[in-house]
Amino acid sequence: MTWFRYAQDVYGQDILLGASWGLIWWFAAAAAAFIVLHLVFKLLARGGSPAVTMTGNPKARMVRHHLIDRLYHWIMACSMVTLLVTAFAPLLGWSFGWVTIHWIAGVILALLVGYHIIRAIGWQDIWAMTPGLADLCGVWRTAARALSRRGPTAGLPGKYTLLQKLYHWGIASMVLVLIGTGALMLSKIDTPFWQRNPYWLSQDTWGIVYTVHDFCALFALSLVMVHIYFGLRPEKLWLLRSMILGWITRGEYLANHDPKRWPASDPTNGSER
Ligand code: HEM
Ligand code: HEM
Ligand code: HEM
Repeated sequence: MTWFRYAQDVYGQDILLGASWGLIWWFAAAAAAFIVLHLVFKLLARGGSPAVTMTGNPKARMVRHHLIDRLYHWIMACSMVTLLVTAFAPLLGWSFGWVTIHWIAGVILALLVGYHIIRAIGWQDIWAMTPGLADLCGVWRTAARALSRRGPTAGLPGKYTLLQKLYHWGIASMVLVLIGTGALMLSKIDTPFWQRNPYWLSQDTWGIVYTVHDFCALFALSLVMVHIYFGLRPEKLWLLRSMILGWITRGEYLANHDPKRWPASDPTNGSER
């Protein structure tokens, strides 16, 4: 397996160009293998959910995602999918003028993410997405029970599970690096706003910028594949509904969340309506 692409300069020395494109299949296959293993595990595992005490009307609706956050998710998802398709489809043999669509989708993604960061820090609950001691304690308890079949249960999560938090920060890091390197790469192409200037950075530095952009793109491909699979799983359709319509029921809230870790009365997080 080759990791990098090289060209040769006039002296016959290797110049780094980027990641090897054969890796696309490895990254896609790793995500597909994870999905298949999870499907098999789900078919074999039969675990009942812990009993919860229901108080109040279980059909009452509670806000999980405000309209503005749902719009952010779906427009951002469209720009990500456009970026992935325009980047990888030409490499797999479907040739079209991909660069213009790619950089415009990239600039849209950068603006959306900038907006999201400001909103997340100023108006949303940053702790809802921060992995904490309670999450680690949950992992420890799950492992202890799996090994000895004794000990306390892991308990329910707050608004997001540990895996969702890890996914968020994993994809967020990739996207932020893609935006940073993509912004530099904009100087290599002609747009209506500026002329290309390929000599702005040295050849070696461009090699590193392209390689970092390529590897983050490959990791983003795997992460998005796995995320879409979880988003469409039958037992997670209530979360998909909440990302489309905004609400979950009180029954779903009590069955899946610890009200102490995600208080329903907290207006920044979720609230009954
Ligand atoms: C999901 C996010 C993204 C993916 C999967 C992705 C993927 C790629 C890939 C695979 C290439 C080819 C690089 C090479 O030839 O080695 C590329 C080029 C490029 N990308 Fe991205 N990218 C993403 C985000 C962005 C963003 C956010 C921007 C701009 C802000 C951007 C701007 C560019 C530019 C300007 C090029 C260079 C085109 C050229 O040199 O001809 N990309 N991208
Ligand atoms: C430093 C950067 C970032 C910070 C501080 C941040 C923070 C957060 C927080 C606190 C939440 C939970 C909001 C809540 O439910 O109360 C959230 C949700 C979310 N984040 Fe980020 N995020 C960052 C970067 C990103 C990036 C780069 C992406 C794009 C891939 C992203 C995509 C999302 C999505 C789709 C949600 C769920 C919808 C929502 O509640 O807005 N985030 N983020
Ligand atoms: C196109 C198909 C997609 C589907 C069906 C989907 C589904 C979902 C759902 C149901 C949630 C809500 C989970 C919750 O309320 O706890 C969610 C959240 C989120 N989505 Fe997506 N999504 C898609 C695409 C994307 C893409 C392309 C990205 C980014 C690159 C993305 C990034 C996120 C993030 C960061 C969150 C917050 C963390 C989490 O809840 O896992 N989504 N998505």
